[in-house]
Amino acid sequence: MSAQVSTRAIILLLCFFLSTITIVSGLVNIGNNNKVGRVKAGPIDISAIGCGTWSWGNRLLWDYDPSQDEEIYRAYKVQRNAGITLFDTGDSYGTFDLNGRAEILLGQFERRYLEEKSNNKSQNMFDLFGNNENSSSNKQQVATKLAPYPWRITRGSLVNAAKASLKRLEQDKLCVAQTHWSTANYQPLQEGALWEGLADIYDEGLCEAVGVSNYGPQQLYKFSERMKERDDIPIAVAQVQYSLMTARNNEILESADNAGCRLISYSPLCLGLLTCKYDLDNLPRAGNPRRQLFRELLPGAKPLLGTLKAIAKEQRKTPSQVAINWTIQKRTVPIFGARTLQQAEENLGAVGWSLSNEEVMELDIASSKLEKNMIENIFATR
Ligand SMILES: NC(=O)c1ccc[n+]([C@@H]2O[C@H](COP(=O)([O-])OP(=O)(O)OC[C@H]3O[C@@H](n4cnc5c(N)ncnc54)[C@H](OP(=O)(O)O)[C@@H]3O)[C@@H](O)[C@H]2O)c1
Repeated sequence: MSAQVSTRAIILLLCFFLSTITIVSGLVNIGNNNKVGRVKAGPIDISAIGCGTWSWGNRLLWDYDPSQDEEIYRAYKVQRNAGITLFDTGDSYGTFDLNGRAEILLGQFERRYLEEKSNNKSQNMFDLFGNNENSSSNKQQVATKLAPYPWRITRGSLVNAAKASLKRLEQDKLCVAQTHWSTANYQPLQEGALWEGLADIYDEGLCEAVGVSNYGPQQLYKFSERMKERDDIPIAVAQVQYSLMTARNNEILESADNAGCRLISYSPLCLGLLTCKYDLDNLPRAGNPRRQLFRELLPGAKPLLGTLKAIAKEQRKTPSQVAINWTIQKRTVPIFGARTLQQAEENLGAVGWSLSNEEVMELDIASSKLEKNMIENIFATR
């Protein structure tokens, strides 16, 4: 009887020991491979990868429905736990009646996240991931983009837009206030007012730094000169469409360096095409604009996607992880959209390792041979 008891006790102990090893090694694995680092962006530090929120509230392109909010929150939480603090959003995100939805959700998610975190203190999972709860480097950083709507023609209208964003977020300071696009190509006079408005937002203490989106090298240079004149208003970021599917040279990277800010690569997965999950027999649903876009892009992208898959296999990563890692190797901060927990977890696996120089070059060459690049944002300037 006592021999039976002690055998059972040994088995139980062994099971406990093995399960502890599994749990701990699982966590260490996540900590080692997926812990997101920090990089400089002008005067501030941001996470080395960020989360995009365009799909949160967008029915047209992303088939959003409020019933998805729980799943989006799960994706949010896993990204926060891994060390992502940078969240890119915009006051125009959310289609029609859902306008502003992304900012509302960002505020709600962070409040819920912090609440769950404080309720969870006994388990202290957050420390296991190496995050210091009280560290300022773990604070949510909202970088919102204010749309240069035609009626926003005065500097004051941009300040009011920033205040409206803060109201939706239920916060009192943005990390970065950005102009969503430049009006230089079609309404150049509005551009000046937008720049003064951005600087005013900073002067009023409503943001930590400013940024721009869809600016080319020349426009970024002009903007940075004006910010210098305005008592050195700090520029943290400049974001452009940047992925293996875009036609990019190094000029925009250099101009971001010269402006003292970080280049943010948006749509790093080319709206999902670089995940390699789509092909001509498996396209987004009929009526979704991505369907026609992918139909046009996929045939000419075959060799690139082949290279991407081969490198992914070699590295024992997924094509998405390789595509995102490539943007990191270019010294940019990618902001990918992840709509589910699974996508977020997979994309987090893009950090903690590096493509070799040869692999980056192989991808560069495959990208330069694309028959058709991803279409440029219509507002992109020189
Ligand atoms: N400044 C600007 O004008 C501008 C323009 C565009 C985007 N942005 C910013 O950049 C962010 C990211 O860009 P994006 O959303 O255009 O595109 P993206 O990051 O290139 O692709 C995101 C989409 O790819 C799919 N996906 C992502 N990870 C996946 C995975 N691991 N496995 C399978 N599918 C995956 C998801 O869509 P499906 O599941 O539907 O395939 C997801 O919504 C935006 O949210 C926004 O914040 C800025």
